[in-house]
Amino acid sequence: MATKKTRTKEEITKDLEEVEDFSLADVEGIGNIRLKKLNLAGIQRAEDLIVRGPMELHQLTGLDFDACADMIEKARESLQKKDIIGKTSLSGRELLQHRAKKIQYLTTGASNFDEILGGGVETGVMTEIYGEFGSGKTQVAMTCAVNCHLPVEKGGLSVDGEPVRVVYIDTENSFRPDRMLQIIYERGMIETKEQTPAEIKAEKPKEPLNEEEEEKALKILDKLKVYKPDNAGQQVMVGEELGKELRDETAEPIRLIIVDSMTSEFRMDFTGRGELGERQQLLKKHIKHVSRIAEIYNVAVLITNQVMISPSVMFGDPVKPIGGTTLGHTSTHRIYLRKGGKDKIVAKLVDSPNNAQNEAVLTLTRAGVQDGE
Ligand code: GTP
Ligand code: MG
Repeated sequence: MATKKTRTKEEITKDLEEVEDFSLADVEGIGNIRLKKLNLAGIQRAEDLIVRGPMELHQLTGLDFDACADMIEKARESLQKKDIIGKTSLSGRELLQHRAKKIQYLTTGASNFDEILGGGVETGVMTEIYGEFGSGKTQVAMTCAVNCHLPVEKGGLSVDGEPVRVVYIDTENSFRPDRMLQIIYERGMIETKEQTPAEIKAEKPKEPLNEEEEEKALKILDKLKVYKPDNAGQQVMVGEELGKELRDETAEPIRLIIVDSMTSEFRMDFTGRGELGERQQLLKKHIKHVSRIAEIYNVAVLITNQVMISPSVMFGDPVKPIGGTTLGHTSTHRIYLRKGGKDKIVAKLVDSPNNAQNEAVLTLTRAGVQDGE
């Protein structure tokens, strides 16, 4: 299991400053003409170059494809020199050091679930949870959105009591702020009214001690930015704008991005057969943006995905995640959720570079997901 490492506030601030200090003009080979073309295409920063990828950059700017690939490579090298992103090739020791320095883990709320993930939802990469309707994907996502605000010592991503922000891209209209409040109360993140033994026995929901405590809970909701894209095109645009949002110096750092669900809009918008290729291309572009954002800004990215039943599977589980191979290859950790009886969820680690396949049983309570017994 990976060891958890707490990074100091100074280290995190330094990382963010380094990203902020880095402009397009610092990239080797970008002169005035290219700079102008890039700016016209809405690309202001070196990180935006990497997020777009060569083909998209070529289409956006009209610059030669090879030149675009070259600029991206140079931008990548520069960011690597500053240790903002990991090198494309490096020794095992360097990789270990890079990970120890950068990576943080966000608790899911269930320690056995954290364990199969190697410590929790990892920053810098994309973690995918897929499963059937009602398997608990949104509940896990909302629990993580609350937990992110906890101090690092308690499994959150807030350092030295500094507030953090969470971006929640809700494509299915399933995000519930009242459910978030309930998780906050039940997890004891604010002071709640003392309950009598009878109330505890009757499992009465917890309530804030007073208005001041309620306000504290609402402040956590203030730090949550919810996007509700109506269609796949809008969702892709939100993904493209994330870089700007992450660089906003006037607000607290964003430490978690949730996309619930990553794929549903792409499923609905394009129903014709002829459009399958187009849909796959757009989804691919979006997945790449989001995963590059995770890497460049070292944020935790949690995405959900639906499944389809593959009738051709004769042995094993016919339930397969949708989104094709791109999503499968881009998600560093893939978790398959399935219902496991009343209020129980079984989480199975399907695909991960550093953890053996494993399962954890979770309990769904008013406090979100917790250890199962
Ligand atoms: P789709 O988005 O439809 O694919 O499903 P999902 O995987 O996101 O499932 P979701 O997380 O929405 O729901 C999982 C289960 O949580 C459902 O059976 C709900 O009834 C249950 N649930 C929702 N709210 C609560 C709650 O406050 N407490 C408890 N214990 N269960 C809840
Ligand atoms: Mg859902």
